[in-house]
Amino acid sequence: MTETLSHAASAADIVDGLTLEQKAALTSGASFWRTKQVGPVPSIMLTDGPHGVRKQDESADHLGINDSVKATCFPPAVALGSSFDPELLERVGVALGEEARAEGVGVLLGPGINIKRSPLCGRNFEYLSEDPIVSGVLGSALVRGLQSQGVGASLKHYAANNQEDDRMRVSADIDPRPLREIYLRGFQRVVEDEQPWTVMCSYNRVNGIPASEHHWLLTEVLRDDWGFDGLVVSDWGAVTNRVNALAAGLDLEMPANDGRSDAQLVAAVRAGELDESVLDTGATRVVSLVQRALAGADADASYDRDAHHGLAREAAAASIVLLRNEGGVLPLAPEASVAVIGEFARTPRFQGGGSSHINPTRVDSALEAIREVAGAGAVAFAPGFTIDGSDAAGLADEAVAAASAADVAVLFLGLPASLESEGYDRRDIELPVEQLELVDRVLAVNPNTVVVLSNGGVVRLAPFAERVPAILETWLLGQAGGGAVADVLYGAVNPAGRLTETVPVRLQDTPAWGNFPGEHGHVRYGEGLLVGYRWYDARELDVTYPFGHGLSYTTFEYGDAVVSSDDDGLALRVPVTNTGERDGAEVVQVYTSLPGSAVARAPRELKGFAKVALAAGERREVEVRVRRSDLAYWDTRVDLWLVEGGEYTVEVGASSRDIRGAVTVDVEGDPVRVPLTVESTIAEVMAHPVAGPMVAPAFAAMAADMLGGAHADGEATAESAGGLGIDAEGMMQMMGAMPIGRAVMFPGSPFGFEQLEQLIASANAPQA
Ligand code: BGC
Repeated sequence: MTETLSHAASAADIVDGLTLEQKAALTSGASFWRTKQVGPVPSIMLTDGPHGVRKQDESADHLGINDSVKATCFPPAVALGSSFDPELLERVGVALGEEARAEGVGVLLGPGINIKRSPLCGRNFEYLSEDPIVSGVLGSALVRGLQSQGVGASLKHYAANNQEDDRMRVSADIDPRPLREIYLRGFQRVVEDEQPWTVMCSYNRVNGIPASEHHWLLTEVLRDDWGFDGLVVSDWGAVTNRVNALAAGLDLEMPANDGRSDAQLVAAVRAGELDESVLDTGATRVVSLVQRALAGADADASYDRDAHHGLAREAAAASIVLLRNEGGVLPLAPEASVAVIGEFARTPRFQGGGSSHINPTRVDSALEAIREVAGAGAVAFAPGFTIDGSDAAGLADEAVAAASAADVAVLFLGLPASLESEGYDRRDIELPVEQLELVDRVLAVNPNTVVVLSNGGVVRLAPFAERVPAILETWLLGQAGGGAVADVLYGAVNPAGRLTETVPVRLQDTPAWGNFPGEHGHVRYGEGLLVGYRWYDARELDVTYPFGHGLSYTTFEYGDAVVSSDDDGLALRVPVTNTGERDGAEVVQVYTSLPGSAVARAPRELKGFAKVALAAGERREVEVRVRRSDLAYWDTRVDLWLVEGGEYTVEVGASSRDIRGAVTVDVEGDPVRVPLTVESTIAEVMAHPVAGPMVAPAFAAMAADMLGGAHADGEATAESAGGLGIDAEGMMQMMGAMPIGRAVMFPGSPFGFEQLEQLIASANAPQA
């Protein structure tokens, strides 16, 4: 049976042989994690995701309440993103695929690539960045790796699921440009480049329509514009109207609902309210997915737990961001006596709560790993506080005593698991107050203090960022994070992570402040395009650490950049030299802007990056390519991506605020013909390739007339002010802003309504 399904018959033929009831049955789950076995179509398993395999046997749930089988807990997306390393994410994807295959899982529910709109989002630890290029490039790499193993990805949560509060109902109200340029751009890239087997619709509404019933999102954009050929699955419980959802392009409803909504589909077809061909399409996509999963399945598959733990450690180390290192406190000398302080060193926080919660094959603590390097005798430990903030009496005093007796104090701070999870957002971005107090007390007795942070979302670091000599942001590092922290502390690994999100000075400075999490069912994305660093740069706000920032134990020098442009986009080449004494890796970042652009833009936007490993003293020419499509903005007049022509500034930097060079390049714009209407302004008509030459002389004459005959050539003088008190330039501006249909009513208009209609018709006629 399986043979027939996977190799011989086409999915459409199989669906042809099914009854109406069977077809409806195919499009919803059999259980929490399985599709239905229907006729010749076997059932397959879908399982969370995204940074490990969360396969549950009994007592299934999607909130991480019940345990799943043991699996490697790789670093969550917040950490992996900071690696800025697509090749690494691809390898993690391969390993995830191997584990999924060994567990008989056909689709792993990830990656999540939603944009980090506000640091308050409780689920930011599951997402990659505040920037769509980073999310798209790294998300693609993970999908590529995973699917290379014959296991499908589920790109989620499509779309605009940028908060947890009220996530099942809230409408994300977003203007077309930010929706396309920020919130959909990463999804578009992954779909176009990698064709994930499935895309998961989100719970929320987008501009008033539930994502599960959003024909524009699920069909017009996803399939018609981007060419998606896979299956759309609902987030678990996202469907409220199955008939509308199927018609909108949602193929598979999960989880099971006792056949209730299957019956609704059958009834709708019988009543003539739903075309049976729509159901055929959905059912065919389910069968195709099953075929793909069966083709990838291997009953004998297994994986090497130790090797995966090793990869998890490598990935964790590559994800750590060295935020500050004054006076070369790091790396630590192995012979230094160390006071390890903070419960997180002994009880690591390595993943977030909810559906991504993995049952790890093992967990390394940083304390053990440090003791392995430095010897147990040289490492004192004091918990300093309790993770939930209770019963801490005496712990801080003991920690301060340990710190004062050691050469170096390494202070592990972080957020308790209860503060960040799927399902709810944070209320602030503060570290617990007892931890902040401990920093001050430890610093007072030992200036050689290193802070190591464990948090899934950004925390405010301003209280100590200028006073603590060394800070490591380790995010949530997965099960092997403890060893990775020791690797970086002692220099076995030279840190090379970079921030994929800004660390703001205050919550009040953040882009969505005042518009998060919304009210009465709506959240207005009032910051528009200015998300993340785009906002801080546009407003010239100080930040504690900028997007793209991260230090190394070595230093990198940039030479002169050159940029070239061709039909595919831009290529920036810059020599980079490792000027220090250690091997290391630099993340070369390329930002563009277009001074004088006709549309609103952020001061700089990341368009490409390259991570490059350089041995001590090595110099290499690094090339970063920028796709032409990434230069485009979404033009709301014609509903198209458009590259605006002009002289672009291309900056190359070590962070968004550490720009090492800038070059300019001329880019030819896409031809655009905005259809003219009577409401088009005179300036728009004059700029039109067909109508412009026809009307320009007439309007120049009209302007001259209105100025009393003076200086229609545009030469501006005080004398030319005429009766209106403005000069020729002002007159052209005033007229330019006038809709042409209104201008014909004014005295001196060069033509009447009829001629205007003819002009518009010939301007809009298709050109030969
Ligand atoms: C989450 C998804 C997850 C699904 C299945 C939902 O609550 O939003 O990310 O894949 O549950 O567990």
